[in-house]
Amino acid sequence: MAPLWGLARALRAERPDLKVEVLDLALSEVSAGAACVVCVSTESTIAIPRRPVTCGGREPCKVELPALLPLLRQDPELAVREGRRLAPRLADATAAMPETLSFSQSQGCHLLSGGTGALGLVFGAWLAEKGARHLALMSRSGRVTDESLLGLFEKVQKLADVHVLKGDIAKKEDVKTVMQQANKLGKLKGLWHAAGILDDHLMADLQQEHLQNVLLPKMDGTLHLHNHAKEMKLELSHFVLFSSVAAMLGTAGQGNYCAANAFLDAFAAYRRQHDLPAVSVQWGPWAEVGMAARAGTSESVVLRIALQEGLQAMDNILGAQATSHLGAYVGVARIKWRSFLAQMPRLPSFLENFQQYAPKDAKKGGLVAKGAAPSRDLVRIGIENVLKEVLGPLAAIRSGDDSLEDFSSPLMDMGLDSLAAVEFRNRVQASFEGVRLSSTVMFDYPTVADLTDFILSQFAPDDDADGAVLGGDLSAAREPLSMLGLAGRYPGMSAQTLRFEEFWSFLLSGQDPICEIPIERFDVDELFEEDRGVPGKVYVREGGFIPGVEEFDAAFFGIAEPEARSMDTHQRLQTETAYESFYNSGFTKETLANVECGVFMGCCTLTGITVDYEDIGPFTNIGSGLSGMSGRISHALGLRGPCFTIDTACSSTLVAMDCAVQASRLGRQELACVAGTNLQLRTDMWVGFCKMTGLAGDGRCKTFDQSADGFGRSEGSGSVILRLKAAANAKGESGLTLTRGSCVNQDGRSATITAPSGPAQQRALQNSLRDSELSALEVSLVECHGTGTALGDPIEVGAQEKIYGKEPRRPRGVIMGRDDRADQDQLILAAAKSVIAHLEGAAGVAGITKLVKMLEHKMVPPNLHLKKLNPNIDLSNFACCIPDKVMDWAVTGSRCAGVSSFGFSGTNSHVNLQEAPTEELQATLQQLGERPVMSWSRSDLSYKDWAKQLWWGISWQPLPASTATVNEAGEWLVLGGGSLVKDAAEKVLPKATVLGMECLASTEKVDELLAKPYAGLIFAEALKAEDPTLQGPTLASLLRLVQGLALKSSTKLLLLTSGAQSAVGGAVGRGLLGAGVWGFARSVRLEVPHVQLKIVDLPADQSLAELLPTDSSFAPFCLLQELCPAWASDEDVAAQQAEIAYINGERCAPRLRTTPVPAGSKRLEILGCSGSRCI
Ligand SMILES: NC(=O)c1ccc[n+]([C@@H]2O[C@H](COP(=O)([O-])OP(=O)(O)OC[C@H]3O[C@@H](n4cnc5c(N)ncnc54)[C@H](OP(=O)(O)O)[C@@H]3O)[C@@H](O)[C@H]2O)c1
Repeated sequence: MAPLWGLARALRAERPDLKVEVLDLALSEVSAGAACVVCVSTESTIAIPRRPVTCGGREPCKVELPALLPLLRQDPELAVREGRRLAPRLADATAAMPETLSFSQSQGCHLLSGGTGALGLVFGAWLAEKGARHLALMSRSGRVTDESLLGLFEKVQKLADVHVLKGDIAKKEDVKTVMQQANKLGKLKGLWHAAGILDDHLMADLQQEHLQNVLLPKMDGTLHLHNHAKEMKLELSHFVLFSSVAAMLGTAGQGNYCAANAFLDAFAAYRRQHDLPAVSVQWGPWAEVGMAARAGTSESVVLRIALQEGLQAMDNILGAQATSHLGAYVGVARIKWRSFLAQMPRLPSFLENFQQYAPKDAKKGGLVAKGAAPSRDLVRIGIENVLKEVLGPLAAIRSGDDSLEDFSSPLMDMGLDSLAAVEFRNRVQASFEGVRLSSTVMFDYPTVADLTDFILSQFAPDDDADGAVLGGDLSAAREPLSMLGLAGRYPGMSAQTLRFEEFWSFLLSGQDPICEIPIERFDVDELFEEDRGVPGKVYVREGGFIPGVEEFDAAFFGIAEPEARSMDTHQRLQTETAYESFYNSGFTKETLANVECGVFMGCCTLTGITVDYEDIGPFTNIGSGLSGMSGRISHALGLRGPCFTIDTACSSTLVAMDCAVQASRLGRQELACVAGTNLQLRTDMWVGFCKMTGLAGDGRCKTFDQSADGFGRSEGSGSVILRLKAAANAKGESGLTLTRGSCVNQDGRSATITAPSGPAQQRALQNSLRDSELSALEVSLVECHGTGTALGDPIEVGAQEKIYGKEPRRPRGVIMGRDDRADQDQLILAAAKSVIAHLEGAAGVAGITKLVKMLEHKMVPPNLHLKKLNPNIDLSNFACCIPDKVMDWAVTGSRCAGVSSFGFSGTNSHVNLQEAPTEELQATLQQLGERPVMSWSRSDLSYKDWAKQLWWGISWQPLPASTATVNEAGEWLVLGGGSLVKDAAEKVLPKATVLGMECLASTEKVDELLAKPYAGLIFAEALKAEDPTLQGPTLASLLRLVQGLALKSSTKLLLLTSGAQSAVGGAVGRGLLGAGVWGFARSVRLEVPHVQLKIVDLPADQSLAELLPTDSSFAPFCLLQELCPAWASDEDVAAQQAEIAYINGERCAPRLRTTPVPAGSKRLEILGCSGSRCI
């Protein structure tokens, strides 16, 4: 249990915002600071059952835990011993130490685990200098691997009799062997346990393997040394454990290391309780050599120990221990207490003896107290000072001198690694009482100036603390819009019906539509490479796809086929879905003509038709341009309002929606179509996202889950029709929902151009609320951007918490007051991407569509893939819920919701919708239900795009002539081929049984025949080929034979044909039959894989007499030559030679290759094709 104390201390260092409390109730003799309860909570109360706690099956310890909990709040580490409460306090032990140790160990041997490492050698030399004669240095490698330590090693070798012993301290047997070997060198007197490694990770990233790597050598190693010493009845004078100051104070990113070393400390105490020598030294980082020096640890708080100082300290410790002046463990570290305590929000009681170093006064200590609104300069200087200290030597390296004055560049560019970033955040947070900084603070506020603004905003927020609210009093221009209808195609819908309702039922079903990239998009096998470092390759095989993208009803839109073929697939699909949305809103082509309707489209994956130059036609440019996407719809339907296509990446369609909303309010149009399409046709974009490591390995968005590893790519096309509500009412039109308002903004200078920005998202949410004239608490659901990235998800939820989690109340000059969202009005965090993955440019319209359906049905489909919340998402102060099953969307008032989309170039958008009044919704649905479902007469226009990849050909690759000799002594069965084959076989396969085709006349005969275990079978009937019509018995007999073999275990089968692959000369008949045998053989190979099949085609222009041996010497094309190597044990060789043909005198094997379309070849015209599909 002792390691839990170490773990708890590390957690406290990493997450000062958590209350980490440790209570030790273990009353056993083993326990010396062992913990049995660790409470981690952000609340002030902890739920622990009100009953006596039993510890490890021993007697009930009769401690009422609830009574102890208030005490834990004062003292977060407590132990209970015989009814007494004990709290640890760090004390200065220097005074208790004698000056030097008189140490002389001329007899006996000292074993140092980790002895070939830095401190092992440092203390080896030290022991030798003090007179130790025999030293055993143990490590896994059994050698000094760090070249800089070789000099020290030589020194030790000169001073003592040194033996390097190989062994893993974590392995019991190794330790036993090494201790026995060492004991032979001289009676073992000292055990110095310095073996250990670092494997640092923040708590959130810590995996079991990281724990094991660090815990095993320290913990198991200690136990093995102790147990074997006991077994060997050693009388040790020293048992020294090399622990770390990390176990004493806790270090961010070293949870495993803190735990391991805490065990050493507790174990030393245990040995001392049993009157066995032991001391555990909690070392601070050493200078010059060793793991800390190698890692270049920051000296901003803990300075490194010089070699001489460290050795002197050991002298003192062992001396003090000898005189029982010292406890079982002791810390040796050079701590800058003032800097150390400045990181902490308040002085921990554990360090109360160091009170004099705690910052007393806000100004002097750099600490700004709660309630006092500091000046901008004070905040900025405070942050810069922390930064200087944390960066330490790095700052000097960057600036070239000791003073770093330029803090304008992004924090991430200044060299803060993830551990230093935690220290930086903690220390800044501690400097400003009441300020809370999230784990994503460096992304949200990437520069010192941004962070300064943020901190100031928490002290004295103005009315719009999270960003300027634009627009002044524009309430007149904030009229809502009715959504008259919508349409779309999304993953999960079927190709046949294209019924939009299917999207909703699919979302409710909880199914996962993500699948392997279809061959119609591209051949993922060609592009896939598991190794993410390989250039030009993708590491993902799956995504979300919609069917039927190659089809289009050109005639409906009056587009001639050549023009339709020149239209990009996005353009064709979008034209259809846009029209469907008009149709579902009650319009027809006729009623739309000359309407002042705007078309606002989002798209960021336009393929552009890649055609050969000679194929470029008059419609190519308009067919492949972004302008053509939106222009096509306006043109085809005769719409006359504003019209454009927007590419702001993943926010494209919500930005389009914002444009449509504003253009309507400005009176530029009477109707608006907002649409977006995303198809996954461009392989270069797949490669690009993989190189960004932006994609999830499994192609799925694991939104909000701790396994979130990037987004999955997906397809879809959607469209909605909007009209200002008053205008719609005047026309007697009813709507599905109301679009209340929207916002577009930019991240500005975020951490990187593609990194999301929490503050910018907050501004977008806030301004959208303003534009919608809604209060934050009126919104009960957000359809989140939710891409499923480890960083993006926490940033998004953080921004939502800031805006939707509370209603701001802002008294000036104090930390912001707020009315929190009540628990019963939890904000629902929905995420369509967790099901259908990321539609990128069309993600916004997909989110809107899902939301419209949720408002209609008053239900929320589940988010998929959420098993364990991303540890960086902090929901402790946020009344929200993430649905994992279908849930009712219950509210007291009207349902209002937001949809978010954030583009990777930094453009964000947020839109707010509200449910339509029930009667209006019912009227809309009824009208929709009365309209016949839109039906299309589509043609497949994919021919031109794909045909080029469908040309395949066989080339015959020459193989070396067979040099095999006959060594086949087994019994073979030769079937068919007539008398020539019989004669030949009898000569060269003396043990062969040669039978005519009559033995394959029936299934029963075949079964009888195969009852004998032949070494292999040769089917030679196709060689004879007296029957060229294919209607004779050859193929039927072969089929029967294969059916018989299918029931047996592995068998060898050689098929002989003649002229099947080189039908030259006069043997066309034989060749024809042989070709049939070859085709048959290829399906046998797939269907009956345990038959080892080889097929050989002999030349047709030679007579059989020439081909087959007449004596035991080999003819040029002797079948036996093929027989021998064919059954090579090497499967690869056998596979390479599974098909052989003798062509133009050469022995060849067929190889498939793609054949480029010959230039100038004409497209095949299929005449008389009508109906919905031409194939
Ligand atoms: N240096 C410091 O600043 C510092 C500060 C505080 C505490 N400490 C503690 O002091 C000890 C020594 O540190 P150091 O700086 O000398 O480290 P080091 O230079 O990395 O040496 C560690 C040695 O341990 C050996 N080792 C690791 N795992 C082992 C295993 N399973 N079995 C046997 N040998 C193993 C390594 O050799 P192989 O890889 O060949 O096995 C290496 O020789 C460590 O326990 C460390 O936690 C050091």
